[in-house]
Amino acid sequence: MTSCRICQGVVQEFFDFGRQPLSDAFRRPEDSSEEFFYRLAVGVCEQCTMVQLMEEVPRERMFRADYPYHSSMSSVMRDHFTRTAHQLLAAGGRGEDPFVVEIGCNDGVMLKTVAEQGVRHLGVDPSRDVAELAAGKGVRVQIDFFQESTATAIRETDGPADVIYAANTICHIPYLDSVFRGVDALLAPDGIFVFEDPYLGDIVERTSFDQIYDEHFYLFSASSVRATARRFGFELVDVERLPVHGGEVRYTIGREGRREPAAAVDALIAEERKRQIVDITILENFAVEVKRNCEALTTLLAQLHEQGHTVAAYGATAKSATVANYCDIGPDLVPAVFDSTAAKQGRLTPGTHIPVRPMEEFSAPYPDYALLFAWNHADEIIAKEQEFRARGGKWIVYVPEVKII
Ligand code: SAM
Ligand code: TMP
Ligand code: ZN
Repeated sequence: MTSCRICQGVVQEFFDFGRQPLSDAFRRPEDSSEEFFYRLAVGVCEQCTMVQLMEEVPRERMFRADYPYHSSMSSVMRDHFTRTAHQLLAAGGRGEDPFVVEIGCNDGVMLKTVAEQGVRHLGVDPSRDVAELAAGKGVRVQIDFFQESTATAIRETDGPADVIYAANTICHIPYLDSVFRGVDALLAPDGIFVFEDPYLGDIVERTSFDQIYDEHFYLFSASSVRATARRFGFELVDVERLPVHGGEVRYTIGREGRREPAAAVDALIAEERKRQIVDITILENFAVEVKRNCEALTTLLAQLHEQGHTVAAYGATAKSATVANYCDIGPDLVPAVFDSTAAKQGRLTPGTHIPVRPMEEFSAPYPDYALLFAWNHADEIIAKEQEFRARGGKWIVYVPEVKII
């Protein structure tokens, strides 16, 4: 029996993807070492409602010096984080000498704007290569895992933080107890802890099962985040739904009793209760939909292959590791995946070993069909790749259902 990483309650499993590789472990073709696999399965805590993985991958295996995800690859995300920086400064950075800390700053996509405003800041990220990119943009960065000890040390050298922010990072951290104790040590009395991550409500609604992979240890909801915050002496004071990455929620947390919660918090929790998104029956139904989607996708790809059409994938996303490995999509069905990240090019996708090619080669020549692994960036990509469509190319998407568009 697995016990909850937050409250030690019983975690009920609702889906097992079987053996999966690390989602960001793109291999060199000449690498003959044994690939690391773990069991990817997901469950819900009967007690605190937190949806979480059944098995934890050691953090050093995932967040290595050459961690290949670069946040600044998407222009929509760059704009999102520029806006976010201004919002954070308006909400919490108005004091005499405000201090903003970001957990998982990656290549500095958000903190760059804070640095440009001349505001005192610190990014904490364990992955060396991306942290160095951030430093190159004038961001002050510490190459480290954020946890209680890191936070205590920062508090001693820099004093209290007015804003602690994280995007697509808190859900990556199983040791959330240590993070909350760290936030407690570092946050100013009226400071805010703001984080945004993929939203369970959207994942269930859209059957976006590829949001489930090693790095996404938690799938948050307002209910589970409020329960967790309260365990550590904090209160969930605001929630905002965000359209990015296929649907996220930005949670704002303050110290208990310091800020009045916005009406949006109760409203979202009420909606979650009504939709029963943490009810095991709904989650088991989600599991049925996942299997159906996957079957529809492999059937379509096999048909296109038989008919002699050329198919390639677009975006070597971490998410696609779950789809490709669970649905058994390898180089026989999809001979190449195109991606603009230099750190992924020339490598093979984890587990399925599809070659990752530079984006410049996508048009040389265009495939008949492009499987949109980066479906969360669909608007941006489809707008940029109009020539592909103009020349008869078609997109294949599988969220919320398998479709040719
Ligand atoms: N914030 C960026 C964004 O939203 O695009 C980056 C997200 S990336 C998916 C997750 C980042 O969190 C990686 O750069 C990783 O190195 C970092 N990370 C993982 N565990 C961490 C921890 N305990 N403390 C700080 N950063 C961490
Ligand atoms: P993400 O879904 O985790 O943000 O990953 C997106 C991946 O897709 C990342 O490897 C970068 C790649 N990508 C492109 O190659 N071209 C693009 O236009 C966009 C938006 C992303
Ligand atoms: Zn629990």
